[in-house]
Amino acid sequence: TGKFFVGGNWKCNGTKESITKLVSDLNSATLEPDVDVVVAPPFVYIDQVKSTLTDRVEVSAQNSWISKGGAFTGEISVEQLKDLGVKWVILGHSERRHIIGEDDQFIGKKAAYALSEGLGVIACIGELLEEREAGKTFDVCFQQLKAYADAVPSWDNIVIAYEPVWAIGTGKVATPQQAQDVHVAVRDWLKKNVSAEVASKTRIIYGGSVNGGNCAELAKQEDIDGFLVGGASLKGPEFATIVNSVT
Ligand code: 13P
Repeated sequence: TGKFFVGGNWKCNGTKESITKLVSDLNSATLEPDVDVVVAPPFVYIDQVKSTLTDRVEVSAQNSWISKGGAFTGEISVEQLKDLGVKWVILGHSERRHIIGEDDQFIGKKAAYALSEGLGVIACIGELLEEREAGKTFDVCFQQLKAYADAVPSWDNIVIAYEPVWAIGTGKVATPQQAQDVHVAVRDWLKKNVSAEVASKTRIIYGGSVNGGNCAELAKQEDIDGFLVGGASLKGPEFATIVNSVT
């Protein structure tokens, strides 16, 4: 469905020096033309990345504030991100949900505000290990989806990232079938609760221990429309391999 989409979530990693190297590796990489490629540096390096990275690759933030800027110590506004040329924002990442404590409603508000200001939103969902083991994977994902659906005015500029929490940073990638099953369920949910059109055109990407070795099998699945990559996105050549796994 749609153009293959690969995002690199650099999380809270990197230095001016390591990011200079990563950008230079990305600038010299051969990237399949028919893939949307986005990287999400830490806020403090966005300006450096924007001014040195090829326009072929777009830049995302890893978070944004829920409304216009002002007296919100430590926050970064959507307007500031746009001022730096940022086109996307990752919202609802499991690390923000489970380590920092953001809830569905707060995330929904952030998504609605970012979209209203013209940013694309990479909207993350995904279950914990204990939720999967209790057979609650679909329930958890649907509840997170509903919070986005209740808040956003349109799905035009949203990519859904399914990231099972047990697969993030653990080296335990979901099997292609496990990922495919959830992606199909997400698409069915969109069809029933939003519209058939949104269900068929919204890209659903997979994240969680994706690397250069496992991306090709995952990319073959009919409903996997791309990836959100953590650790492996810090290595330019491996990230390029993942971008080029489009089938
Ligand atoms: P890893 O690829 O390091 O498992 O991280 C996935 C992720 O959380 C991307 O947002």
